Amino acid sequence: MNLALTSCFKRAYVNTTPLACIPSNLNILHDQVFFFSLAPYLCQRAIPFSTNALYNLLPLDANLQNTNEDTIMAAFGSLFMPKMALTSFDGQTWQTPKMVPSDSISLHPGAHVLHYSSTCFEGLKAFRQADGSVKIFRMDKNIARLMQSSQLLTLPSFDPEMLAQMIRDTVALFAKDVPEAPGSLYIRPTHFGTEPAIGKAAAPSLQSMLYVLVSPVGDYFAGGDRALRIKLEEDGMRCAPHMGVIKSGGNYASAMRPILEAKAECNADQVLFCPGGDVQETGAANFLLIDGNEIITKALDSTFLHGVTRDSILTLARDLGMQVSERELSVKELLERAAKPGCEAALSGTAAVLTPVGTLIYQGKEHSIGNGGIGQTTLKLRRALNDIQWGRSPDTHGWLTQP
Ligand SMILES: Cc1ncc(COP(=O)(O)O)c(C=O)c1O
Repeated sequence: MNLALTSCFKRAYVNTTPLACIPSNLNILHDQVFFFSLAPYLCQRAIPFSTNALYNLLPLDANLQNTNEDTIMAAFGSLFMPKMALTSFDGQTWQTPKMVPSDSISLHPGAHVLHYSSTCFEGLKAFRQADGSVKIFRMDKNIARLMQSSQLLTLPSFDPEMLAQMIRDTVALFAKDVPEAPGSLYIRPTHFGTEPAIGKAAAPSLQSMLYVLVSPVGDYFAGGDRALRIKLEEDGMRCAPHMGVIKSGGNYASAMRPILEAKAECNADQVLFCPGGDVQETGAANFLLIDGNEIITKALDSTFLHGVTRDSILTLARDLGMQVSERELSVKELLERAAKPGCEAALSGTAAVLTPVGTLIYQGKEHSIGNGGIGQTTLKLRRALNDIQWGRSPDTHGWLTQP
């Protein structure tokens, strides 16, 4: 018997949620992944999309005064382009990838992924350039990370060039629909075990599926936003220490309850996991402390996700002559430094880009970071990254790829 996984994709590109009157200053913080303000799409109708694809996705004519953030997020997370590249591994060979409708896949109810969470994914973006072309940002890094995640989850290995071509093909197919800055096309390669085998709790799935789904997105940080409130969590951890480098659904599931509790208890936007006092990362982004000319972040190890944005920001910080310190950072040192007037902190990630953190909540007490607002160095680094992504400054590190 086959289980059609249509429900989670059901609202793909026919969304009936009314959305037209979202205030332009409304920004949205997703529980798990930072997604973005819809304002660039919905309130600046003059944005020169090369097609009106997005407007076809969103009904703009209804009265939307009462639309709340959850509704917007639900709608937003379900906006997908109608086709995706897909391939599967049958235990012997990978099928030739093909473009298929993105509103359903077929999966056996006994599929390994549904029982033993043999799944990993990636998140990267394609950007419309100042000259009108479209480029994909650091695709090689994200492919390498998906290959590593797959290997650590003992999923079948794949040829990185096969996935690169799937990404290029999918982006090329929707190149006309990639939003102008500050929007982008979010790319979600996903790999999971499909073998129908519920007796394989401790054995790998010999079959798997790999697809590349794309979704037009706006910018979480559209300007004028407040800095985030982050709760420091010393007791728990985001995920098992040996799983941190894997971008896998199980890790997000593991972090969800503490994040929801922090929201409910102290109106925190996110949790910064600091097991035993060691500052690691939040539920969906890396953490950077900026103290004057120094930028401090945890050194790479197996306990947390090695963010592509983290790497990009550190590279740009070095380019700008900043001192980059990749090392252990304790909660004690973080709080001491945060109390200094010029100190800043930010979260880095594909979706978050570089989002300022203004307040740390520790043992029930609030600690402002610097002046508690949006830091100037954070803005400068964010702009330096965005300028490369949108082709406004030279791609000196070779980070952009043609689809
Ligand atoms: C747990 C976690 N850490 C860090 C990041 C940042 O990774 P990247 O910069 O590659 O998007 C993410 C991004 O989704 C994440 O989920």
